[in-house]
Amino acid sequence: MAKPKPGEMLHLRGNSLAKGEPVAPPLTQSSMFHLPGAPDGQYSYGRVDNPTWQHLEHVLSHLEDAPCLSFPSGMAAVSAALFATLKAGARLLIPSDGYYVTRLLADRFLSNLGVSVTERPTTAYAEGGFEAFDVVFVESPSNPGLDMIDLAAVAKQVRAAGGMTIADNTTLTPLGQRPLDLGIDVVVSSDTKAMGGHSDMLMGHVASRNTHVMERVEEWRRVSGAIPGPHEAWLLHRGLETLDVRYDRMCNSALVLAERLAGHPAIKRIRYPGLPDDPSHELAKAQTARFGFLLSLTLDSEDKAEAFINTCALLRPATSFGGVHSSAERRARWGDDVDPGFVRLSVGCEPVEELWHAIKTSLNAL
Ligand SMILES: Cc1ncc(COP(=O)(O)O)c(C=O)c1O
Repeated sequence: MAKPKPGEMLHLRGNSLAKGEPVAPPLTQSSMFHLPGAPDGQYSYGRVDNPTWQHLEHVLSHLEDAPCLSFPSGMAAVSAALFATLKAGARLLIPSDGYYVTRLLADRFLSNLGVSVTERPTTAYAEGGFEAFDVVFVESPSNPGLDMIDLAAVAKQVRAAGGMTIADNTTLTPLGQRPLDLGIDVVVSSDTKAMGGHSDMLMGHVASRNTHVMERVEEWRRVSGAIPGPHEAWLLHRGLETLDVRYDRMCNSALVLAERLAGHPAIKRIRYPGLPDDPSHELAKAQTARFGFLLSLTLDSEDKAEAFINTCALLRPATSFGGVHSSAERRARWGDDVDPGFVRLSVGCEPVEELWHAIKTSLNAL
């Protein structure tokens, strides 16, 4: 498995600089580019290309070890990958327990355009085989249940049946899991989460080693106009420079907290792929480099879950995850098919003992 090199990533730009050029990438906030005569220059118009996107995509490509295109949100990246690979009459398989907006996109829009959409739960994904599908979309670990599937096995079976695989790798990032190296055709990611890491912008990306798919994804971006703002691209670039150190802290803390929370009487059930008795543990050990920073906790009731989230001084009651600030929310409030007391907890960069003290204090008071 090719390992990303975060140290090399930090010097990608610096090692190609001429004397006097800025070490940090410039933010090019321009819709127009000087373009006299035939339009054969490097940059023509802000919907087509932008130097700040290019700086960002250089770094993203290094992390993914594959060509990458950036998008203004994770859903813009998911949409680009699906619109670039589907057509009327195509058959799409998506997880019934993954990020719910991907399901909405399929149900409310793709199916109206003649795509036949089938849903399966992550743990039973391979049941029934993949012969009936042109595109198989996977999310492992699933958000919010943290169930996993064998990506290499799915990729192999789908390819043998003539289909294409797309993996949403948002929850683990390329530092935690490398779907392309496991045979998956296309990776999508919400970089709003850990990749950006500071909860100050939305972004996403698509990565693939399939040239035809990337051409279609680029065309989709240019024609649909789903383009990132240069400032957001710049912010994501800056966030990526600390991804390694943030992600390391978050995953280490998540394991410590999971072990302690597993023994706390207020927790009815905990899911964390790093715990040896977690249903995802064996797969996580085999196919991920890290167990991630997300924990799923089930408390006795909705009221207790709300009280826990809202009284903990070091938890932001917020949707989304992957930021430097730990955050948590009850997923049933969005209609996810989970227990009313089910809480998704995103472990941030606070020192772990301080965080544990705050979490324990709030749980003990329930
Ligand atoms: C797994 C997953 N994929 C995609 C998305 C969509 O990302 P965005 O909110 O950046 O559009 C999310 C957002 O929560 C997510 O959790």
